[in-house]
This record gives sequence, C-alpha cells and structure tokens, in this order.
Amino acid sequence: MRVTENLSELRTIRRALPGVFGLIPTMGALHEGHASLIRRARLECDHVGVSIFVNPTQFVPGEDLSKYPRTIEKDLALLGSLGVDAVWTPTPEVMYPDGYQTWIAVDKVSRPLEGAHRPGHFCGVATVVTKLLHSFTPDRAYFGQKDAQQVAVLRRMVADLNFSVELVVCPIVREPDGLAMSSRNAYLGPQERNAATVLYRALSAAKARFDAGERGAEALRDAVGEMIAAEPLVTAQYVSVADPDTLEELPEAASGALLSLAACVGETRLIDNILL
Ligand code: PAF
Repeated sequence: MRVTENLSELRTIRRALPGVFGLIPTMGALHEGHASLIRRARLECDHVGVSIFVNPTQFVPGEDLSKYPRTIEKDLALLGSLGVDAVWTPTPEVMYPDGYQTWIAVDKVSRPLEGAHRPGHFCGVATVVTKLLHSFTPDRAYFGQKDAQQVAVLRRMVADLNFSVELVVCPIVREPDGLAMSSRNAYLGPQERNAATVLYRALSAAKARFDAGERGAEALRDAVGEMIAAEPLVTAQYVSVADPDTLEELPEAASGALLSLAACVGETRLIDNILL
C-alpha cells in the first residue's frame, strides 16, 4: 500500500494502477461503515484508493473541526489489512493552497435539511469531492447511504458537470443495537450512547407504520418526533419525508421516499435515515 501527502506523487502512484479504479473518500476515524465501502470496491475494481482528509471547508463555524477524531495510524493499519492500493492524506495546505478561490455550489438540493442547519456545508463537500475526483481520476467512487443528502448533492454535481465517474452508494452499517456507524459516535458518553438508539428505533417504527399502509408524511414525521421527544437526552433538529433525489418534502410518502432526521444527543449531532 502506497501512502502519500503529496499530489504529484499520488498521480504517479495512480498512473501505475491500471484497470478499473475505485475511490473511497473519507475523513479518517475509519469504522466498519468505511470498511464495507472498501470491501465492496475491492470486489468491483482492480485497484482501490482511499483519501483521508478532514476537510475544513465542510465544517461550519462552531462545529467540531478541531476535535474531529484523527486516528491516522489505526486507519492506515486497517486500510493495509483491507488491501487498499493507494492512500492520499493531503494537508489543508495541499488541498487549499494560498490564494485558493474556487468553489462548487450545487444549488437547490443543497438547501434543505443538512444545508439549512449547516450553511455552506455542501459547498465544502462538493468542492473537496471534485478535487478528490480530479486527483484520483477513479472510474467509481463509493459513498455511504447514511449521508443521504450528500449522495443526492454529489449525484446532481456529477450529472451537471459531466464527471466521468460512477457513484456507488452502499447501505448504512449499523451497530447490533441499530445505531448507524459514525465517526462522531466516539463523542457519546455511555448514557448518551444508549439514548442514541432511539434514532433508529423511531425510524423503524415509522417505517413499520408505512409498511402497514400509513402514507401521510406528517403522521410519519410526527411518529418519529414523538418517540425522540420521549428520550430526554435527545433533541430532534428535523424529521423529513422527502424525495431522495431532490430532497423536496413530500405531502404523501411513496415507496422509495427518504425518511431522514438530525438530532442532538447531548452535544453530539447525529443523522440517520431509512428508505420507505
Ligand atoms: O462523507 C464524508 O466522510 C465526507 O463528507 C467526504 C465525502 C469524505 C468529503 O470530505
């Protein structure tokens, strides 16, 4: 496994890896969710690259940029064991050198939900993913369904800007008690960790109501909101029933609609979703 911080070295490494190339962009603090993306890429591609970069431009002021977990030695050991060929670990100076002034803004689909609570977040994501795609030139790039709006934003960007890459979206990986895997779960104290299980329980209960015939989006949102409100350590920020591509709210839930939420568990903000 070749590891570099340097862009021209990355390009040299990449040129020596022929065939179908798969990229898994990450911010490090790798967990089983990332491992599932890498395993899938290994099955589908001849060579696999991973980027590890805690992207400052996707954190809004007051967020956890400085305390975001950085576990590079452990991450590299995991990537080695998973058979990754190339790892790029650029510094912020490599990614955003002095004088940097180019941004990718994906318009409507970036606005609601996460975009409304984290203004500028998706501009940072779209910009850094563009740079990662240009640097690695992968045939496929792998993302987790947990960041459902990120997936919708990146799909729009790839289509609008004629990127020559296939986005592959992989299922959410959950802990045995249902909590979606996230690097931010590391922030949770034991009581918070326990309380956080309400998120998936609430989504699953609403999905059960959908499966039993409920189609009213408001009823489904309320079902989730009420279960979360009963858990004192958890505060919901939004609950949404939306079109999975446009993120527009739906009055009536249809099969394939995205039921998503963001909530604070103590100080930790988590997101989760389920497809109806
Ligand atoms: O999903 C993430 O970890 C990040 O948003 C990504 C895609 C690596 C961009 O920084």
